[in-house]
Amino acid sequence: MKTPHASYRARTFNLSGLQGISDKTLEMHFKLYEGYVKQTNLLNEQIAAILEDGKIDQDETPAYSELTRRLGFEYNGMVLHEYYFGNLKRGADPEPEKASSFRRACEESYRDFKTWKTDFVGVGKMRGVGWAVCYQDPSTRRVSNHWITLHEVGNVSGFRPLLVMDVWEHAFLLDYAPADRPKYIEAFFANVDWAAAGERMVAD
Ligand SMILES: [Fe+2]
Repeated sequence: MKTPHASYRARTFNLSGLQGISDKTLEMHFKLYEGYVKQTNLLNEQIAAILEDGKIDQDETPAYSELTRRLGFEYNGMVLHEYYFGNLKRGADPEPEKASSFRRACEESYRDFKTWKTDFVGVGKMRGVGWAVCYQDPSTRRVSNHWITLHEVGNVSGFRPLLVMDVWEHAFLLDYAPADRPKYIEAFFANVDWAAAGERMVAD
């Protein structure tokens, strides 16, 4: 009997016409994202194939270990891109509404929204390849911003990603020079779907 395994389908996002992030960048970025979905499915399939006879033979251990190690990279690469595209929209407001629960959580956790934003932008400008993610701790309801190296190093288990910003160079290289990441971050903030970030919060 075949070992059951998860299979994912790439989602589609209608994001043409953003400010400062070109359609060309998005098209290329969607293709990269689809690659993560494909690789995640492939890894799950290959691991299931090894488990098909109900055991991991000694000669299968190196392959099994390598496939399993890569799961963290591919899975998080897939999911973080879905959060990222999911918190962008055309015609966005530059800031969340005063009464919104996302803004209130930022204010409660950082004193004011401006300080939260300074921190998030600061994380996004950090040298290296990765992501800036604003998480909510479901137990304290507080939000905090984190640097994720690659896709898998730094995600806090159990925390909820509310706002996700890709700062890999592929996210902006067609629109800005590598040293101009701050301009891309500014463009990101011109396209944030604040309501989407708010909907990801733990219900009170
Ligand atoms: Fe990306």
